[in-house]
Amino acid sequence: MRFELPEELVFLKNGRAKQKKSTTSMKGKTAVVTGATSGVGYEAVKALAAGGCRIILVARNERKAQAVKEELEKKYAVSVAYYIADFSDLASVRAAAEEILKDQEKIHVLVNSAGIHSTKKTYTRDGFEKVFCVNHLGSFLLTRMLLERMKASSPSRIIQVNSEGHRFNGLDPEDLNWHRRIYTGLRGYGASKTAQLLTVWQMAEELKGTGVTINAMHPGGVRTGIGSNNGFLYRWFLRHVTWHFLKDPVISGEAVYYLASAPEMEDVSGKFYNLTVEEKPAKHALSRKNQKKIWEKSLDMTGLSEEKRTDAI
Ligand SMILES: NC(=O)c1ccc[n+]([C@@H]2O[C@H](COP(=O)([O-])OP(=O)(O)OC[C@H]3O[C@@H](n4cnc5c(N)ncnc54)[C@H](OP(=O)(O)O)[C@@H]3O)[C@@H](O)[C@H]2O)c1
Repeated sequence: MRFELPEELVFLKNGRAKQKKSTTSMKGKTAVVTGATSGVGYEAVKALAAGGCRIILVARNERKAQAVKEELEKKYAVSVAYYIADFSDLASVRAAAEEILKDQEKIHVLVNSAGIHSTKKTYTRDGFEKVFCVNHLGSFLLTRMLLERMKASSPSRIIQVNSEGHRFNGLDPEDLNWHRRIYTGLRGYGASKTAQLLTVWQMAEELKGTGVTINAMHPGGVRTGIGSNNGFLYRWFLRHVTWHFLKDPVISGEAVYYLASAPEMEDVSGKFYNLTVEEKPAKHALSRKNQKKIWEKSLDMTGLSEEKRTDAI
């Protein structure tokens, strides 16, 4: 008799599966990548640049962005530009998006990798719970603002670097800023990633027929800087225990490259991938009711719904 893993645990098997690779050139393409000064995003830009893709970094730290730019230009002879935005400050995300739209004629790929995990609840200056803001609201706002340019550049692809951590859930559409519940790092992280997934399904529906696709991916359990903002004990455990179970983040870069370039991915949209293996997300991340609610709230929290109202006047 063959042993079948319960649905909720299939992700364990998928993470160990043989992953797909793409050798399709990305010459002539331009990719906007957030969170590329470290970890998954950094591996993604190296893979994209090695494939001939022009790179536009969106980073909060100018010194790090400049260093990545110099490295990519020298090693892969591609052109690299960068824009500064702190994803815990939506005004700065908006300003960076406006600059990008002013300067960049084409955007074929958008990879949203900027993200954090925090054991403590903190708030942004706009009053949003910080992990929710960085992991979901920032990427939501940037994606929405670049969408028309991506449609005009189609075929184009959006890749949301999400996480198996969405399975921790924690999402309560009536308490997105955690005023009424006890916050834990895992539940806060799960809430942000669940919200992002719910908006991916909605955007995929909206984008049908435009030549723009949107998918979410888990980049593997990999050795990166994530969590290094947390306290001493957390960091000690990460370095001395968890670290041994994590993989080289090169696999994340290869998976992003596959999703961004493989011809067989051209028309695929609204899916969740564990690296390159399509996977069913947790049930709570497929709730139609919450999808609608989170969509409306994300538009409100990012100020995009106000814009819509002004447009209509
Ligand atoms: N590592 C894993 O095993 C794993 C597993 C599942 C999902 N993920 C997801 O992968 C993505 C990347 O994480 P990582 O593991 O690569 O972590 P990382 O090495 O810490 O990289 C995070 C990136 O996000 C940027 N960032 C953080 N806060 C920001 C802010 N407020 N504004 C702008 N940029 C900000 C960082 O910039 P600085 O360099 O300036 O700090 C860095 O470039 C995240 O979305 C994470 O949830 C990772």
